[in-house]
Amino acid sequence: MLKICVGLLVLALTIPCYAMDPPKILKFKNNVVYDHEGHQGICNSCHDTIEGGNKISGFGKEWAHKNCIGCHTRVGNGPTACNDCHKNP
Ligand code: HEC
Ligand code: HEC
Ligand code: HEC
Repeated sequence: MLKICVGLLVLALTIPCYAMDPPKILKFKNNVVYDHEGHQGICNSCHDTIEGGNKISGFGKEWAHKNCIGCHTRVGNGPTACNDCHKNP
């Protein structure tokens, strides 16, 4: 966390930085691009706490397919097909 904040401060001193700023875009294996900004307000649907920010223990294929696709299916929004998440270059 501290590392991220320090990193942001170094990159742009004008960016307000508090402990729980999530990284905007995360890139996972097999070309999955995940956008924290498009998933605001529901931190604890993935993270353990409402504030978010902790590493998600056990994050990986199993976790992602269960939770990411699970929610997209449940709410009827967001990608559920392999290639909609795994963008092949
Ligand atoms: C749809 C799932 C999801 C939601 C919702 C979500 N995150 Fe995340 N977040 C992740 C994933 C996945 C990672 C990378 C986890 C890892 O590497 O263990 C991550 C990483 C982070 C990190 C970096 C953690 C680190 O130590 O590197 C921060 C900070 C963070 N999220 C904050 C938030 C905040 C604040 C919210 C709510 C506004 C939020 N997240 C909502 C999935 C989510
Ligand atoms: C709690 C519900 C929920 C969870 C968990 C969730 N999503 Fe989503 N996701 C959504 C919703 C709702 C949308 C549609 C948002 C929109 O179109 O504004 C969406 C949209 C997306 C999109 C397409 C829009 C974009 O940002 O490009 C991608 C890609 C995506 N999610 C990836 C993921 C990944 C990867 C995970 C797991 C790490 C995940 N989502 C977990 C609810 C969720
Ligand atoms: C909602 C987005 C989403 C959908 C839909 C999805 N995946 Fe994934 N997939 C992920 C995420 C996120 C990971 C975890 C990547 C990581 O660990 O960094 C992952 C991981 C994987 C991995 C492991 C990659 C590795 O190198 O370890 C494979 C293989 C995979 N998915 C195949 C598929 C297949 C096949 C489908 C369709 C049946 C599918 N995925 C649908 C998001 C998705």
